[in-house]
Amino acid sequence: MYAPDGRTLSVAESEVALYGSVGWYEHIYDVVVPMYDTRGNIKRVYTDNAPQKLKEGYTYAKSETTELMFSDDGRFIYVPHAQVGAYLSVNWYRGGGKLDPSRPMVAITYDDGPAKYTDSILDCLEKYNARATFFVQGNSVSKYPGVVKRAVSIGCEIGNHTKTHANLSKLTAAQISAQLSDTNNAVYNVAGIYPKLFRPPYGAYNKTVLEAAKMPAIMWSVDTLDWKTRNATKTLESVKKSTRDGSIILMHDIHAPTADAAESVIKYLLKQGYQLVTVSELLSCRKGGAEVGKSYSNGY
Ligand code: NI
Repeated sequence: MYAPDGRTLSVAESEVALYGSVGWYEHIYDVVVPMYDTRGNIKRVYTDNAPQKLKEGYTYAKSETTELMFSDDGRFIYVPHAQVGAYLSVNWYRGGGKLDPSRPMVAITYDDGPAKYTDSILDCLEKYNARATFFVQGNSVSKYPGVVKRAVSIGCEIGNHTKTHANLSKLTAAQISAQLSDTNNAVYNVAGIYPKLFRPPYGAYNKTVLEAAKMPAIMWSVDTLDWKTRNATKTLESVKKSTRDGSIILMHDIHAPTADAAESVIKYLLKQGYQLVTVSELLSCRKGGAEVGKSYSNGY
């Protein structure tokens, strides 16, 4: 759970209501406020930073009572909830925002970063008020601390992709444990949160991996093969061909064409009516959460 001042805490399920009653939140995006700068750019800030940002000349968006919507020609606007249907009927589409469990959703995931292209992907996610999950390599985290921190601050999830992109199925339990805990600590050191999920490099896992990891393993249901085609158009085509409600989509933020594809992929999915959520949000809505010792490749 999250405090209004940005602190995070793992809370037992039975205590969630108690924390909620004293102002803690279950989802980080509940403490993030959309604001505009004077040029109309959206900035999203923690609620406790909002008064300072107001002093600096930022203004609140219409926020809680509205949804961010987009038109094909690139305009965006906050629309009151009651008018969302009307805008949809004339081909506007909704951005991300608060999770509605009754609506279709997919989880975009990016592996192997953080890298130099990750920031531009975050720009797209932030623009459309959408979220993704980044399965990071521990060794790269300290090279891009600001990127990891920024991802968390806009509601994205950080997952664990081992320290050195190791093939965990060939390691001992102690080695598996070290690969994952080193990465968890690296993420904590820069972003103040511990990853809750891991993705085994090469999708390679066995019983020893699942037992030693002490975290749920996350696979995927849509393999874009972006690492192979290195082509933004083909990556988008692959998403169009295979995505359905509950999909977990695999891409890699270490490749420039994947970053180039980000905006078209995000726009396409939002236009199809999908909410772009983190893996934890997807599994929480669709599977009642993710259990240690198990692997998940979709939310359907
Ligand atoms: Ni990988």
